[in-house]
Amino acid sequence: MGKHIVIGISGGIAAYKTMSLIRLFKKNGYDVRVTATRNALQFVTPLTIETLSQNKLYTDMFDQNRTLEVEHISMAEWADAFVVAPATANIIAKFAHGIADDALSTLFLAMRKPVFIAPAMNTNMFQNPVVQENIELLKKRGCEILAPDEGFLACGTTGSGRMQEPEQIFDIVDQRMSEDQTLAGKRVLITAGPTYEPIDPVRFIGNHSSGLMGFCLAESAARKGAIVSLVSGPSSCIAHHRNIHRYDVKTAEEMYQQCMQLVDKQDIIIMSAAVADYTPAHVAPEKIKKDNAQLSVELVKTKDILASVGKIKRENQLLIGFALETENEVENAKKKLHNKNADLIVLNSLRTKGAGFRTATNQVTIFSKDGREFASELKSKQEIAEEIIQTARKYIHK
Ligand code: CTP
Repeated sequence: MGKHIVIGISGGIAAYKTMSLIRLFKKNGYDVRVTATRNALQFVTPLTIETLSQNKLYTDMFDQNRTLEVEHISMAEWADAFVVAPATANIIAKFAHGIADDALSTLFLAMRKPVFIAPAMNTNMFQNPVVQENIELLKKRGCEILAPDEGFLACGTTGSGRMQEPEQIFDIVDQRMSEDQTLAGKRVLITAGPTYEPIDPVRFIGNHSSGLMGFCLAESAARKGAIVSLVSGPSSCIAHHRNIHRYDVKTAEEMYQQCMQLVDKQDIIIMSAAVADYTPAHVAPEKIKKDNAQLSVELVKTKDILASVGKIKRENQLLIGFALETENEVENAKKKLHNKNADLIVLNSLRTKGAGFRTATNQVTIFSKDGREFASELKSKQEIAEEIIQTARKYIHK
C-alpha cells in the first residue's frame, strides 16, 4: 500500500509549483490528498488540484456536499505526513498560535504525524522577527522547516524567501518517510546532562556536561520509532521529537528516583548523564557566609544509577553506560562494563581533541559484554548518537 501524504496549500504565488509537488508524490506511488485556503485558490484551481491528486480537494469545513465524516480528523488520521507548501507568513502565525479558522489551520491542529513546512514569502517579511519567532516556535514543537532558498522572488526582488523547489521538498519528505523504523514500539530510557548537588540555597556542585549527547541519542531513537523517556539534569538543550517524553531533574537522587520509576517498562536503557558521584552530606538551610578562612563541605556518595539498574535488569533489557576517562581508558571502561553489569559501554576520551564536554563533536569506542569493540571517528554528536543507536539495535535483535 502506498504512503499517504496530505499537502496543504496557502495563498502565495509559489502555489503553482505545488502542482509539480503533487505530481512528484503521485508518480512515486504516494496517495495524495490536498487542502487549500481560499487565498490559495486565487492562484491555482480546484480542477487542477483534483486532477493531479486524483482526490477531492478539502477546502470548506462547512461544505453542504461533504460526507458525514469529520474531514479534518479523518484526514489527519489517514495521513502519514503533512506537507505545507507554500506556507505564508499568515498560515505560519496561525499554526504557531493555535488559530484554527479554516480547513488548513484546523487540520494542522488535529495532525499528530510529521509536519513539513515550506515557507514562501518576500525577503523582508521572512526576516521579520515575528515570522522568525513563529518559525522557531514551530521548530520547537517538532515541525520540520524546509528553509526557503535565496533567489529571484515574484515581487521583483532577490533574497531569501523563495519556496524550495518541488524536487527538493519531495526528496526530503520521501527520505524521512523511508527512514528505518526498526525501534517502533520499543521503549528507551535515556539519562542526560549534569546533576546539580545543592550546598546551600544558592550554590551547588555541578559539572560541564551540556546534555547534548543524551539529547542527540533521544532524537535518534525517537526517529526510529522508539518511545523515549529522557531524564535530564539542568540543560538548555531542547527535545524536538514528539516521541520524546522529557523528565527534568536536578540532583543525582532525583535522577535515580525518576529512573527507578521508569526502568521496568524499558527495552533499552542508556545512561549518558554525567551524574555527580558525591553530594553534600548536609544542605545549609541559609546562604553560607564567608565568616571563616576555610570551608569544608562534607560529601557523601550518590547512588550509582547505572549500577543499580545493572543489578535489577532483566535478560531482555539492554543496558548501555558511558565512561569518561582521562587515564587507562580502555582498561577502566571495560572494568565499568563488568562492574556495573552493562551490556555495552561507550568510552569518551577527554584526550581526543574535539571530544567530550561542551563540544559539538565526539569520538567514542563502544565495548560490548561479548568482547567486541566498535570505534568511531571524530564526528558530530548527532552522528555519534546514530552509531550508538545502530549498535544498540544489533544487540536487542539477538
Ligand atoms: N553513573 C550513574 N550514576 C552515578 C554515577 C555514574 O548512573 N551516580 C553512570 C553514568 O551515567 C555513566 C557511567 O555511570 O553511564 C560512568 O560514569 P563515570 O563517572 O565515568 O564513572 P564512575 O562510576 O563515576 O567511576 P569513576 O568516577 O571512578 O571513574
